[in-house]
Parts: sequence; C-alpha cells; structure tokens
Amino acid sequence: MPSPSPAPAADLAEVAARGRALILSLQDPSGAYPASPTFSAYLGFSWLRDGAFIADAMSAGGEEASATAFFDWCARTLELQAERIERIVRAAREGRPVPDGEMLATRFRFDGTQVDDGWENFQLDGYGLWLWAALAHARRHGLDPDRWHSGIALTADYLVSSWARPCYDWWEEHVEHVHISTLGSIEAGLRAIEPLESMGAERRAAVRAAADAVATTIRERGVVDGHLVKWIGSTEVDASLAALIAPLAVVDAGSDLARATLAELERRVVVDGGTHRFPADTYYGGGQWPLLSCFLGLAHLRAGDADRARELLAWAAGTERPAGTLPEQVEDHLLEPSALPGWVERWGTSADPLLWSSAMFLRLAAELGEVGA
Ligand code: BGC
Repeated sequence: MPSPSPAPAADLAEVAARGRALILSLQDPSGAYPASPTFSAYLGFSWLRDGAFIADAMSAGGEEASATAFFDWCARTLELQAERIERIVRAAREGRPVPDGEMLATRFRFDGTQVDDGWENFQLDGYGLWLWAALAHARRHGLDPDRWHSGIALTADYLVSSWARPCYDWWEEHVEHVHISTLGSIEAGLRAIEPLESMGAERRAAVRAAADAVATTIRERGVVDGHLVKWIGSTEVDASLAALIAPLAVVDAGSDLARATLAELERRVVVDGGTHRFPADTYYGGGQWPLLSCFLGLAHLRAGDADRARELLAWAAGTERPAGTLPEQVEDHLLEPSALPGWVERWGTSADPLLWSSAMFLRLAAELGEVGA
C-alpha cells in the first residue's frame, strides 16, 4: 500500500481537536475514561494503561480538569482495593506470593469495582503508568500530588512487592514472561513518586531501591544486540518499547540504546509509517496501530528527529474515519490476514473509536506544537 499523503498542518490540528472533544464527551462522570464506547469486548471498562495515557494527553492538550478527574478516579479505585493490596504485600514479604488471579485487575468498571471475569487481568504496567502520568500532570499544572496520597502509597507498596513477577504484557499476552515495556512503565512510575516527602523516608527508600533494581534488570536482561527486546529471553522487539524513550523517558533519547531500539523498530514493525505491535501479531490479522505510530513519533521527536515524528503523525491522521474517530488498528497492511475473520466473528469489527488512539494523536500533535488552546 502506498503511504497516505501527508496531511496539511491545519488538518493535523483539526484531527487532534476532534479527538480531544470525543474524549471529553465520553469521559464518565466518575472520571473514568472508557476504552471504547462501542466495541463489544471493551464496553463498560476503563483500563489503567489506556486511561493513564489518555489523561496524560488531555493534560498536555490543555484539559486539566478532565485529567484531574481521571487521577481522582484512580486514587479512589486503589483505595477500594486497600485490603487486597495489604494481603498481596504481606504474602510477598513472607515469601509466599499470592497466585496471579488474586492480583489487581488491569481494567475496572466505571464505579471503580474490579471484576474477576477471566479477562487477562494480571498486568502491572498500568500501575506504574498512572503514577507517572499523575505526577507529570501535577507538575505541568502546578497541582499538589498529595490529593492522591493514599492511592499513590498503595500503588507504591504493590509495585515494590511485585514488580519482578511475570505478568501479561501491554497486549494482554504471554503471562509467563517479564516484559521490558512493563518494567519501563513501572520504573517511570516509581521514579515519579520517589521525591514525594509525604511518602515518608522508609517507603521512599523502598521505592528508590525498587526503581534502581528495575532499571538494572532492563539494562542487564532486556537488551540484545544493543536494542531493547520484548521480554527477558526474547530477541524480538515490540512497538511499545518506543514509550520507554518517550514519553516515559526511562531510556535517554540520546543514548546508543535509544538509537538502536528506534532503528530496530523501524526495521521490524513499521511499514509506510504504519506501526504493527510486533512481528508475530495475529490479533484482527495483525494490523497497524495509529497510537503506536504516535508513540514512535514521540520517541523520534525526543531524539531530535521532528521530521520523522511529523511523518508518523501524518500517517496516523490518514487513518481517521469519516465520523472523525481514530480506530485501534487499520487493515491496510495485515501480518496474518487469515486470522482476521475469526476475530470479526467473535467480537465484530475491531475497536473504533479507541480513545487511546485519539489520545496519542493529541499527545504527539501537542508536542509538535500543532494544538491550540
Ligand atoms: C489491547 C490493550 C488495551 C485494551 C483496551 C486490548 O486489545 O491489547 O493494550 O489496553 O485492548 O484498549
């Protein structure tokens, strides 16, 4: 497929504005962001991962109140899990960690309740991501992060106790592995909260020690041939790794590691500006995800390549549907076309709109100076 011709700058701003308005219109009164208002398998749920990045984009895009409402929801949601977290932390400390099924969920209903429904729930990345996004939001808008104190402290204890466990990755796959994007998300969250004096000396020391251990693990066990890899023991990449360079900044964008990781991602998962999740993806045929082209654009931009970032944003703009929505993925270049019909039969066509897609577009557009107040 030829790549879509680059969208003019004014169009980019309009796509971003439409996405921002859509997210605002769909945010639940509780503060939760639905993953998708229409896709059958996601209906009625807010994901910590999607939500943290959506809130971060809204924060960067000038929607302070919307982002604050989401982080308030996160803190309340964590407080509802206080007893479960205490049990998990105690068991880990006593050397008899609870089974995966008793860990915290990756997605919650809008009222903050956890549903143990067999979904691939055990994922740690979202817990690091909400901390990272909340602290970035507080800094950006001059807010006191202690409004989320108990939620932050509970999350800190949870991550300190459990960061090294294998769990499902960003794509809710491979629960048997320790995923490098998950570790990067956790490191970003722990580093963000470590300076908070309200956490107390003991908890801060534990957070710092855990963050350092995560960083060492990433560098010593998450790098092959000079680039980051999908999980410990893999030689393959995953597009989510771009997030570690930007916006999470746990890998210095000017480093050889960032350069090699970006080069490998471009080589292995990018076709004409469209970004696949990973080379063996078969979900809905393994299409290209606009949100991942935007993550890649953020990483290139942080590394100094604004032209490549703009190209990737223009590709993402080209995926906008006539209704003004951005989908989860597009089918222009499928890695495994034969896998598509089975998914359509199971859940209908893939998610559209996906709020996380609009959010990442808004985030990259804002970073490129394309978003008005
Ligand atoms: C993706 C997750 C995402 C969820 C909700 C899943 O298909 O793999 O990354 O959080 O959808 O958008």
